[in-house]
Amino acid sequence: MAQRALTGIKPTGEPHLGNWLGAIRPALELARKYEAYYFIADYHALTTVHTGEALRKYVRDITAAYLAFGLDPEASVFYRQSDVPEIFELSWILSCFTPKGFMNRAHAYKDFVARNQKAEKDDDADINMGLFGYPVLMSADILMFNADVVPVGADQIQHIEFARDIAEKFNRNYGESVFHLPEPRVDDSVKTIIGLDGRKMSKSYDNTIPLFLDEKPLQKRINQIVTNSQTPEEPKNPDDCHVFKLHQLLLNDAEEQAVRKVYLAGGMGWGQAKKMFFETLNDQLKAPRAEYNRLLADPGHLDAVLAQGRDKARAVAVPFLERIRSLIGVR
Ligand code: ADP
Ligand code: TRP
Repeated sequence: MAQRALTGIKPTGEPHLGNWLGAIRPALELARKYEAYYFIADYHALTTVHTGEALRKYVRDITAAYLAFGLDPEASVFYRQSDVPEIFELSWILSCFTPKGFMNRAHAYKDFVARNQKAEKDDDADINMGLFGYPVLMSADILMFNADVVPVGADQIQHIEFARDIAEKFNRNYGESVFHLPEPRVDDSVKTIIGLDGRKMSKSYDNTIPLFLDEKPLQKRINQIVTNSQTPEEPKNPDDCHVFKLHQLLLNDAEEQAVRKVYLAGGMGWGQAKKMFFETLNDQLKAPRAEYNRLLADPGHLDAVLAQGRDKARAVAVPFLERIRSLIGVR
């Protein structure tokens, strides 16, 4: 049987270039080798997104983005977390096998506490139970579908380790291997994509290149990439330049060599470097952008895609949860 890969996508903002190259593109490649499960983790987003209008919009945006970049809902299982209530029942069951100490040690939670301490606030200021228990729900996402491989960013590895530990405790307790033990998959070839200012591209830093801007605003955004004060005549070191670092990610080897030559030869101003990058990016985004806009104009279609995914996901989740209920003695 084909191994199963599963990944969750948190709808918390408009998708940007870092999301595409760091998450969307590698996730979609998995469908070639694995039985692929993709889901919109809307109940994970609820830990921080607290207006209905915003959450609804981000779910639509991110659903359309994955489809626009080629997610095939026929060949994979693509669903919204909140459409599969079995996940939340499993989350409670797993929480009864989760040592509270795991959650105290979770990096994401500890980061919040550290920030509070730095601001001289109460340790748990603004930390809701959803944030604290986040890794349990994530374990339920993964274990419900017996995922073998979970592609994630490096910051999520600890969560997969929790899922493994919780699964082991449960299996040992009931003397059955109910749950597969998931493996994190961190793609080393996907580096951290830098933003306009050279820091990690992130919506928290307002340094992103949003994926679906129209051409003019896209070009404007690219013109904001920070460069040094070299004159056009001076030869430039491509490896020491934010524009090239981003441009490079979109090029094959031969194309990259050609662009490097232009930098090294001198006579190229930063305006021209940015224009070259814009043209490459715009070429690659043109078709997805048109598809994205088409999809957003047709919310009925997005709903239908997610409904189809829900049915496929529940066809797996409902009988599996029945087995678990019977094992723990609530049926
Ligand atoms: P943001 O930092 O903008 O809030 P998210 O945390 O919502 O982005 O990230 C969603 C996904 O995109 C995650 O899988 C994350 O690893 C990936 N991602 C986000 N920013 C980058 C980046 N700059 N480089 C590589 N991957 C990224
Ligand atoms: N926690 C992940 C993130 O912040 C999103 C996520 C939720 C996820 N459930 C998951 C990822 C299950 C992989 C598997 O990006």
